[in-house]
Amino acid sequence: MGSGGFAVVYRASYQGTEVAVKEPHNPCDLEGSKLMRKAFFREANNLFRIHHRNVIELVGAMVVDEEGNPCFLLVTELLRRPLTEYIEETMKPASESERRARGHVVMLGLAEGLAYLHSMRIIHRDIKPQNIMLDDKDIPKLIDLGLSKEKQSMVAPVHSAGGGTLDWMSPEKRRGEPSTTASDVYALGLVMMNVMT
Ligand SMILES: Nc1ncnc2c1ncn2[C@@H]1O[C@H](COP(=O)(O)OP(=O)(O)O)[C@@H](O)[C@H]1O
Ligand SMILES: [Mg+2]
Repeated sequence: MGSGGFAVVYRASYQGTEVAVKEPHNPCDLEGSKLMRKAFFREANNLFRIHHRNVIELVGAMVVDEEGNPCFLLVTELLRRPLTEYIEETMKPASESERRARGHVVMLGLAEGLAYLHSMRIIHRDIKPQNIMLDDKDIPKLIDLGLSKEKQSMVAPVHSAGGGTLDWMSPEKRRGEPSTTASDVYALGLVMMNVMT
């Protein structure tokens, strides 16, 4: 279905339902690399306790295959297309008023999804069009919690080295300062400019 800096995503079938399976580019590295393992478990653990119509839904995760070999797979609901494709294929050809209406629905959904993550004390840290997808009913979903962090306190920013994608980075993150809920909101604001203009 696609790939990013961390993983490849396949379409698969699980108990009669179509699902997406995310596999790290190099699962063997993952076995060896503490940092990558941490990222994998962080994404799985954060997704495990999150249920919102505007955030991707986890189906399950596995760390070994049937023979007991290391195998890191994250199984989630299957989504239809990235936001970038939705903008090109559905929004751009539409009339001005339809474009605006669709843009409002998408942005409202994403804002609700992000507010929910923040209410669950999770900072996404990599909000960008590539990490936003729509399902077959055109419901927008935040995906890719691979860089997400749990906040210890609602006011203290999360300290960590790097992370995120430059184009969608808030000024404070560019300066190397830690991520906060505000840097997620800033990135979503840039996505909104992308969607509405
Ligand atoms: N649930 C899904 N259904 C369909 N395609 C997906 C799904 N999740 C991810 N993808 C596609 O795979 C790409 C990489 O997934 P992502 O979780 O962002 O991995 P990475 O952590 O490597 O960036 C996404 O940009 C998207 O195109
Ligand atoms: Mg991604």
